[in-house]
Amino acid sequence: MTFDAFEVNKPLDQLQSKDQYTTVLRVRLCKTEEVADGEVRKVETAGLVLAVYHVGSEFFVTDDACTHGPGSLSEGFLECDVIECNFHQGRFNVRTGAVVLPPCTIPIKTYKTIVEEGAVQIEL
Ligand code: FES
Repeated sequence: MTFDAFEVNKPLDQLQSKDQYTTVLRVRLCKTEEVADGEVRKVETAGLVLAVYHVGSEFFVTDDACTHGPGSLSEGFLECDVIECNFHQGRFNVRTGAVVLPPCTIPIKTYKTIVEEGAVQIEL
C-alpha cells in the first residue's frame, strides 16, 4: 500500500528530552478546499479510515468509525465542533474526542492535525 506521507523533524522546543526521537511521520489527507466549512469528509489512507472536519478556520481529524457501533462519523451531522453519529445520534466533540451525548460512552480517537501548504495533514 502506498500513501502520501513524509517525515518531519519535530522542533526542539517540543521535545521533552534530548534523547526523544525527533522525527514524526506526517500523512497528507486532502486539500483544504476539498472539505467545505461545516462539512466532514471520509479519507482512507495509511491503513486508517478517518473523518476530516472543517470548523470555521480550523480542521480536525478523528477515526471515522463510531465507538458505539457501525456508524460512520463522516456520514453524520456536524454542528460547530460536535459530530452526531448517523446511526443512534450519539455525539462527540471533534476537538477532543470526548463523548457529548450517549449512547456513546467511549471517546473517539483524535489526531494531531496540521494545515500546511493548503493540505490537511496528521502526525502519526
Ligand atoms: S453507532 Fe454511533 S451512536 Fe451508535
